[in-house]
Amino acid sequence: PYPYYSQLRVGEPVYKTRFPDGQQGWLITGYTEAVEALKEPRFIKDFSKLYGGSMDGMSVFTQNMLFSDPPDHRRLRGLAQKAFTPRVIEGMKERIEEITDQLLNDMKQKEEINLIDDFAFPLPIIVICEILGVPSEDRDKFRIWSNSLIEGSSGEPGVSIYQHMNDFIRYLGEWFSETRREPKNDLISKLIAAEEAGDRLTEKELYGLVTLLIIAGHETTVNLIGNSFLNLLKHPEQKELLRRNPELIDQAIEESLRFDGPVEFSTSRWASENLQFAGKEIRRGELVVVALNAANRDPDKFQDPNVFDISQEKSPHLAFGTGIHHCLGAPLARLEGKIAISKLLERFPNLRLRIPESELEWRPGMIVRGVKEIPVTEKNE
Ligand code: HEM
Repeated sequence: PYPYYSQLRVGEPVYKTRFPDGQQGWLITGYTEAVEALKEPRFIKDFSKLYGGSMDGMSVFTQNMLFSDPPDHRRLRGLAQKAFTPRVIEGMKERIEEITDQLLNDMKQKEEINLIDDFAFPLPIIVICEILGVPSEDRDKFRIWSNSLIEGSSGEPGVSIYQHMNDFIRYLGEWFSETRREPKNDLISKLIAAEEAGDRLTEKELYGLVTLLIIAGHETTVNLIGNSFLNLLKHPEQKELLRRNPELIDQAIEESLRFDGPVEFSTSRWASENLQFAGKEIRRGELVVVALNAANRDPDKFQDPNVFDISQEKSPHLAFGTGIHHCLGAPLARLEGKIAISKLLERFPNLRLRIPESELEWRPGMIVRGVKEIPVTEKNE
């Protein structure tokens, strides 16, 4: 997509277009315009305010901070925030290292490794399940449910997405009841205690938050690990630089987030009134989407934006968004990414693809950027 983004950015960094799903709206590809849009309070998230009705049919997916505006947003984010501060996350370092080591040990036993299924996928999901307090053995179920919510279909012929959503809601309901009977020291127990202490979180909002965290734990960090690995593989001199200077790992992860971020487009925003924005007339109710990966290659912000270079600290990228919806899980994602890539390179220094690079299959949809599988081996041919 990058040459196309670059063409758009030069011509019209705020561009009226029709998205692949048929909706008309504005696509933003310039860095300055992207920051401005993500911070513009007149671009709102909750479109039911504009069109009446509600998003109730999809409420497990939408009744959460990501699809709310102030003041609801502050309340919903505030409750979860305590569990994701950099200090709390730093406290999880050892446990994340342990999980990573275990997955790498299992990989050592295998001849044919798929880096997504065997490593990049299980790591973040085990971590988020432990934070929430749901059994990570059920992670394959979460994967199916989360994929169908993100891709908007069940992925199976004859099975509707609503069937998956029903199964998911039933699963969470049972889990919440069990937690009510027997609270522990996990996030769900704390949220339920908060819910019972007053009107801070409704039942629907509890489902909404847990769903958001499970999806965020699935669909993003997987691709941070996958894309970082692929970027290093495609740029062997950078991989070698990192091998000789392991302290460059922070920069390697940041550069990967900038160069090939796991989230292609921001979530949708809607203009709450007619406004002038970056020289364009945007009308009330129109859709606005930021192409984060396009903004992250804006030459006005980044020198040589199309070069993957871990050797220098760069300007801040927008892979985690910015403004009030800036990613809550960024400290966790960064830590997981760092541990995963450092340990992977240490334990498997000679991994190479088992298929030609051109055969890697990118996942469909406009939101996530990542490949379906990364078949690798340590063996020489
Ligand atoms: C929001 C990216 C991992 C939780 C966001 C947004 C982006 C993003 C771009 C803002 C979307 C927008 O404004 O439209 C990423 C990336 C990740 C990652 C690239 C991994 C590399 C995680 C993880 C969690 C998480 C691991 C939690 C476990 C959230 C939440 C929000 C959010 C709760 C909503 C914040 C709000 O609305 O106030 N993320 N994310 N993310 N992310 Fe992440």
